[in-house]
Amino acid sequence: MGRGRLITLEGIEGAGKSTLATYLRAQLELRGVAVRLTREPGGTPLAERIRALVLERGEEPVSAEAETLLMFAARRLHVDNLIRPALERGEWILCDRYTDATRAYQGGGRGVADSLIESLATAVHPDVNPDLTLLFDLPVALGLERAAARRGAKDRIGEESVAFFERVRTRYLEVARAEPARVRCVDASQPLDAVKAAASTAVMALLS
Ligand SMILES: Nc1ncnc2c1ncn2[C@@H]1O[C@H](COP(=O)(O)OP(=O)(O)O)[C@@H](O)[C@H]1O
Ligand SMILES: [Mg+2]
Repeated sequence: MGRGRLITLEGIEGAGKSTLATYLRAQLELRGVAVRLTREPGGTPLAERIRALVLERGEEPVSAEAETLLMFAARRLHVDNLIRPALERGEWILCDRYTDATRAYQGGGRGVADSLIESLATAVHPDVNPDLTLLFDLPVALGLERAAARRGAKDRIGEESVAFFERVRTRYLEVARAEPARVRCVDASQPLDAVKAAASTAVMALLS
């Protein structure tokens, strides 16, 4: 990996990822860091087209495995054409969702085998893994309430059941427990100022 840092933001809908991404970018820029904000699935023109394919509600069924492969196809475009070059230039990346989201949504939520997800992760981005992952954790009902208040139409994944998001949340927490050195779990049910402080502390530790 290059000289930059890859920071990923994870959590269910309404957890505060987008809000914190904007906040953290401003905080890093105040310290003179070149920051790039991006998201998955997407982040490059072609990867955004795959995002549209994955999230639209069409006639043709999309199996969990097909969904997983599309996510990793988009990810490889994003890594090759945006993330790796930016890291090599010394930029810091704040990425709204990455492979932990595939573990949580496709793995936990849809039951895709860990072995498939982990072999794809190793094949698709052996050299590009997060320096830090912020997991914004909160009760599903609160996340869905915030997401609903934010408006915006639900996509094919966003319209899933509460039980689905409970499985997603559980898997995210399992990933955090398995990799405590990389994943910082932030209690996202706290007032925004407290969430900002916790996230900022974790990110600024990467400066030293
Ligand atoms: N800690 C918080 N307390 C109260 N409201 C919050 C908090 N974090 C985010 N919000 C609000 O909840 C909504 C969803 O936040 P957002 O950042 O869009 O979440 P995500 O990107 O994870 O889906 C937004 O309207 C945001 O202003
Ligand atoms: Mg968001």
